[in-house]
Amino acid sequence: MSNQKMPPRIVTERLVIRCWHEDDAPLLRAAIDGSLEHLRRWMPWALNEPSSMDETRERLRGNKAKFEEGQDFTYGIFSRDEVEVVGGSGLHPRIGKGGLEIGYWIRADRTGRGLATETAKALTEIGMRASGVSRLQIMCDPENAASRRVPEKLGYSLIETRVGDTHTPDGGLRDTAVFELLREWA
Ligand SMILES: CC(C)(COP(=O)(O)OP(=O)(O)OC[C@H]1O[C@@H](n2cnc3c(N)ncnc32)[C@H](O)[C@@H]1OP(=O)(O)O)[C@@H](O)C(=O)NCCC(=O)NCCS
Repeated sequence: MSNQKMPPRIVTERLVIRCWHEDDAPLLRAAIDGSLEHLRRWMPWALNEPSSMDETRERLRGNKAKFEEGQDFTYGIFSRDEVEVVGGSGLHPRIGKGGLEIGYWIRADRTGRGLATETAKALTEIGMRASGVSRLQIMCDPENAASRRVPEKLGYSLIETRVGDTHTPDGGLRDTAVFELLREWA
């Protein structure tokens, strides 16, 4: 699903969810650097953190280019005044025809207030309105209780648990719970 278009900026009750810009690097670094242990437990990419400011800028430039080309849609989650990066999310066309996967993380000191749910809800609405999209998925480690509550609260159904199909960030085998929402139910 290349050349898809997504809105670059979404405003919700408490958040601005928008395409990254390289100048967001310092705010992103602050969010990741203060959340390393929290993220490393579940996100393999966090094992490679902290990365440098230059590497972070470079990555954000890449994210923006892919967004503009319609290849992949990585969003920053900001406070409404955009002075803080609250987390990251995205709509990722990596699950085959007609599908988009939603991913998310929230900085450690902003969890437990419904912000992942607010983000995933907004991206669910956007994804379901996009042309050619018939299903959305959210995947997580079944043991990640906070993460799996997000699709459950948004009405996604658990369609599959893939046993031992991937690894935890520390190298152990782990399962993947696949939650899906079909367009006709949106
Ligand atoms: C998972 C994560 C995104 C949740 O963010 P959040 O903003 O705190 O999520 P929300 O507040 O929207 O919802 C979390 C839900 O999980 C529940 N929850 C939180 N911790 C829990 C736990 N240990 N056991 C059971 N439920 C838990 C909350 O009560 C809430 O459910 P409720 O509204 O029914 O009460 C955040 O903890 C995070 O970034 N974790 C590290 C990265 C990660 O795991 N990303 C997801 C990878 S699939």
